[in-house]
Amino acid sequence: MDEKKWAQETAEKIKRKMRLVAERNRHKIPYTTENGVFDDWSGDRICWWTNGFWGGIMWQLYHATKDELYREIALENEEKLDVNLMTAEGMNHDSGFRWLPTAVADYRVTGNKASFNRGLLAANDLAGRFNPAGQFIRAWNDSGDGSKAGWAIIDCMMNLPLLYWAYEETCDPRYLHIATLHADTAAKYFIREDGSANHIVAFDPVTGAFSDTFGGQGYAKGSSWTRGQAWALYGFILSYLHTRNETYLNTAKKVANYFIANTPENGLIPVDFRQPADCTLEDSTASAIAACGLLEIARALEEKGELGATESRIYHSAALKLLTALSEKRCNWDDGCDHLLEKCTAAFHDKTHEFAIIYGDYYFIEAVWKLTGEELFIW
Ligand code: GLY
Repeated sequence: MDEKKWAQETAEKIKRKMRLVAERNRHKIPYTTENGVFDDWSGDRICWWTNGFWGGIMWQLYHATKDELYREIALENEEKLDVNLMTAEGMNHDSGFRWLPTAVADYRVTGNKASFNRGLLAANDLAGRFNPAGQFIRAWNDSGDGSKAGWAIIDCMMNLPLLYWAYEETCDPRYLHIATLHADTAAKYFIREDGSANHIVAFDPVTGAFSDTFGGQGYAKGSSWTRGQAWALYGFILSYLHTRNETYLNTAKKVANYFIANTPENGLIPVDFRQPADCTLEDSTASAIAACGLLEIARALEEKGELGATESRIYHSAALKLLTALSEKRCNWDDGCDHLLEKCTAAFHDKTHEFAIIYGDYYFIEAVWKLTGEELFIW
């Protein structure tokens, strides 16, 4: 396969379709589609963790095309998120997912001062969730009974770049300390010997002692929820890129090696690598996120001389296998349908599975842009 040609053609198909999709959904913040039409989470669901990805898609398209339509839609998405910053119970560890693809992206592209403020307020809130006892960032809220005060989740690795950004902008090392202390805790308690990852780890929030692990959105305790594996894979390589700490690169490689070894022959990723053998449920989001992380590992290794470059090819071709499988078998290229990726799954035990999810589309576009050189670095 001519990889460059494939990437260019895929990017062109995305641009053609997304111009129409953006135009007809310009005032929404979509999560999924109903009969191929995006829904809208702008109203009373505005604090949902995925509400930054539509803006992120717009920034990636703007960066690649300079079409003002995309910048305008991204700004509308960013401004709508301000309600989050005034809603304590709506704030959680997912600040990175919400403000890196919106306000921080805007600030990086335009230097907008209001966007800088949003990013910094969100980073301060995220830093405030750090528990010095167990050295972890608390994931979710509870009803005020403290039942989730000791819960940390692997997804948070993807939110740490908001703290790295705040550190890089302000030179205040507290952001860096909190991000790296959490990453060290995650490497120790979430990543298992074989490179698979726990979804949820509970600590005693008073003493910081390890307490338990939970299956979370995966099949069961001790199983291997594939999106969680993907968050770990991409999250650790991002921590390496921001700190140049080799331990994070090695952790990312360990998780990636496990992911590659468990990738089915057809390149399509199940919801959990340890789901029952007769279960065929898939999650295309895990595939797109992992592809992004694999491409970053490959890029990092390329900088490490001849041996690194040789090793790099393993991760690069693993990413290509995932992306070509998605493009050929799981992309909806119909211009009349709003979503790109099909067969995305939020959680194994949910009632519904295999539908469109906005962050699947976001990471698929980001991965293709990594190959064409059109990516805006969001994380
Ligand atoms: N961060 C939540 C999820 O991946 O579903």
